[in-house]
Amino acid sequence: MKVAIVGATGMVGTEIIAVLEAYKLPVDTYYFVASERSAGKPIQFNNETYTIIGLDAAVEKQPNIAIFSAGGETSLEWAPKFEAVGTTVIDNSSAFRMDADKRLVVPEINASLLQRGDKIIANPNCSTIQLVMVLAPLHKKYGVKRAVVSTYQSISGSGMKAMRQLENEKNGVNGEMAYPYPIDGNCLPHCDSFTENGYTKEEMKLTNETKKILDPSINVTATAVRVPVSGGHSEAVNIEFESDFELAEVRKILHETEGVTLKDNPDTNTYPMPLYAKGKDDVFVGRIRRDESQANTLNLWIVADNLRKGAATNAVQIAAYVIEKGLVG
Ligand code: A2P
Repeated sequence: MKVAIVGATGMVGTEIIAVLEAYKLPVDTYYFVASERSAGKPIQFNNETYTIIGLDAAVEKQPNIAIFSAGGETSLEWAPKFEAVGTTVIDNSSAFRMDADKRLVVPEINASLLQRGDKIIANPNCSTIQLVMVLAPLHKKYGVKRAVVSTYQSISGSGMKAMRQLENEKNGVNGEMAYPYPIDGNCLPHCDSFTENGYTKEEMKLTNETKKILDPSINVTATAVRVPVSGGHSEAVNIEFESDFELAEVRKILHETEGVTLKDNPDTNTYPMPLYAKGKDDVFVGRIRRDESQANTLNLWIVADNLRKGAATNAVQIAAYVIEKGLVG
């Protein structure tokens, strides 16, 4: 079993390496792949030093699996080249997510749809993953009609340049800007670029990807906001169901959902927060309460490390699944 990590030096790539070290997949050989700028440089994995290779060299190795986190353009150009040599590509970018013939996978929810022929598998957007992890078990029980989502997204979702902008602003240094405005002490209602309908791409990803993963009949409307938090996305979610629910049962369902951790006790100020989700693979949910302004409607608060379950962990879990089920060539 040979696995390539494409974009190994990036923010998500670095997290994938950490998750792979923890998951210990049955893999014989790893290849660490980045741009030609990084090729030849050393990279550490499991206390061993590997040499970074470029994309051409990686295709020649014909890995069984390639996990891509090197941006959409690299995925569009190179995923088909890996596919052509028999590699199963797990892609973190948005390049293939909405392609009708590509699976969009959160393993706990829909990995069972995967077949040997699925050679390019898309990893959903970070904000979508943590949302559907909570919606999925509730949809099964009560039928989700509509979800209204407000996100509070960390700057790590915009990459290294954004991390530097926040650091510079905190230290009073004038530097390169990743955002059109200061982020320290600010909230930007602007994640990814704007689309023609006035929503941002991030907001439309929440709508479209949720429909694709869970059910096209679920309506989602979102406002995505960038906040000066270094890691971890939070979401305030209002969910209207087809049928009524008992709060105790909602808590029980979420408590029993694999990959979801319930943190919900107002008496002890227990609720999910990004600082405490950092470096963890689970999705955290709390502040569970009835929306008293409307029938069959619930409010809750979801937090996850956007680089972990929102990206690296989900991708590694897909890799673990396809290896375990013998779906790779
Ligand atoms: P490199 O470090 O050599 O530039 P981030 O999202 O944190 O900016 O990381 C992007 C990742 O994608 C890095 O590992 C980066 O490698 C890699 N990358 C960017 N462009 C390419 C490319 N054209 N070919 C291969 N890897 C790329």
